[in-house]
Amino acid sequence: MSLAVVILAAGLGTRMKSSTPKVLHKICERPIIQYVVDSIKPLKPGKIIVVVGPNSEGIKNALAGYSVVFAIQKNPLGTGNAFKVAAKELKRFKGTILVLSGDTPLISASTLQRLLDLHRQGGEDISINSFIGEGDHCYGRIIRKGGEVEAIIEDRDADEEQKKIKEVNGGIYAIKSHILNLLKEIKINKGKGEYYLVDIVGIAVNKSYRVAAHIIGGESELTGVNTRKDLYKVSRYLRDRVVERWLQDGVSFIDSASVFIHPEVKIGMDTVIYPNVYLEGETIIGDNCTIYPNTRIVSSEICNSVVIKDSTVIESSIIKDRAVIGPFAHIRAGSIIGSSSKIGNFVEIKKSVIGDGTKASHLSYLGDAEIGENVNIGAGSITCNYDGQEKHKTIIEEGAFIGSGTQLVAPVRVERGAYIGAGSTITEDVPSLSLAISRAEQRNVKNWAAKRRPKDKKGN
Ligand code: UD1
Ligand code: MG
Repeated sequence: MSLAVVILAAGLGTRMKSSTPKVLHKICERPIIQYVVDSIKPLKPGKIIVVVGPNSEGIKNALAGYSVVFAIQKNPLGTGNAFKVAAKELKRFKGTILVLSGDTPLISASTLQRLLDLHRQGGEDISINSFIGEGDHCYGRIIRKGGEVEAIIEDRDADEEQKKIKEVNGGIYAIKSHILNLLKEIKINKGKGEYYLVDIVGIAVNKSYRVAAHIIGGESELTGVNTRKDLYKVSRYLRDRVVERWLQDGVSFIDSASVFIHPEVKIGMDTVIYPNVYLEGETIIGDNCTIYPNTRIVSSEICNSVVIKDSTVIESSIIKDRAVIGPFAHIRAGSIIGSSSKIGNFVEIKKSVIGDGTKASHLSYLGDAEIGENVNIGAGSITCNYDGQEKHKTIIEEGAFIGSGTQLVAPVRVERGAYIGAGSTITEDVPSLSLAISRAEQRNVKNWAAKRRPKDKKGN
């Protein structure tokens, strides 16, 4: 079957009350239009036409990596007019046109495939993806007579009886190409001043074309984003879908209602996720990890049996097996944390490699550092990696011991097994197995405090 896809995305989205075009609002950091285009990829359509408004650089940028063509709807004169604009690109096309709304991001490829299968099996000219709408909503109602679809009536045009109809229009249709001829018969809706694509249903039924609506997908796939409330609802649906998948695949959640896991994330078996955890981007979490509350992990790889303690942020980094990170740690982009290492309270690591078994347990900043295996970084030690103009490297070799409160002024190297006395400022390389100590020698001034103390009334 020859398949073309049209995505309507030129609406103004005024109900969002936003300066951002509706289809560029994000769920899990990705614009909703990308979800729609992704959903049709598995169907391998010959052509994808996205209808956009005249000032649509943002949408074009969001779809830069996708093979789609854009059709420009000069004025937002409604969905019927938007489809007409796309139809100009389909003059010679023969086959089925799948029409989607750019504001319905959770539609799945399998539901779309199902719609196309039913469309073909029933020899239908127009197949509508409908669903049962719950609660208050503004979806078009599917009007049936003797079970057959007769028309779609928009919420604002529906009378009290029609408003009670539960079956609503999902805004997704499979349409045979010869139906394009009927587009010119859509009349302007006087109330709204727009051409409604849904009116093509009544027109086609009157001409005895085969029109059917199929209740597939449900509200969790077909919710259209018209308002911020819809956006919120859709992001909850997506969260629940992702959590459900990982529950089935052996991941435990203490409170799944408070976590957000992006759809691309992968999580291994027996991993336990505590409340308020955000796993973002293409993060991979291994088997048997524990991720404690209030943690955000972005585009990172966490290997197996890693423990991430509370309130930790990890960005674009790799954490190897059995490492323990946090609480309150910040692992910044470009870091590799070795296996069985320990990065503790209030430690910030930036673009650094930390060797296996190395410990930085308290209050450190390690930036642009290369730290070998089994190094101990004492509390409060920092790398001074920036001279105001450039960043410099600190190298600490295997088995070195960095005493508490050390400042390592980069570029500097501490060789294998060397010791640094607490409170030192290290500006020169330290040879292997040496002790470097740079603080001023201690001086005790006898009775100093007693002399300074003010005398009481009795002169003591
Ligand atoms: C539409 C349907 C409604 C259905 C609902 C499903 C119509 C008239 N109504 O209503 O029956 O229940 O979707 O979500 O079709 N668009 C354009 N150009 C325009 C206007 C809209 O490209 O001039 C695009 C929008 O960007 C959007 C899509 O068409 O992606 C649907 O438009 P929207 O305004 O969201 O229609 P709804 O009121 O949701
Ligand atoms: Mg809509």
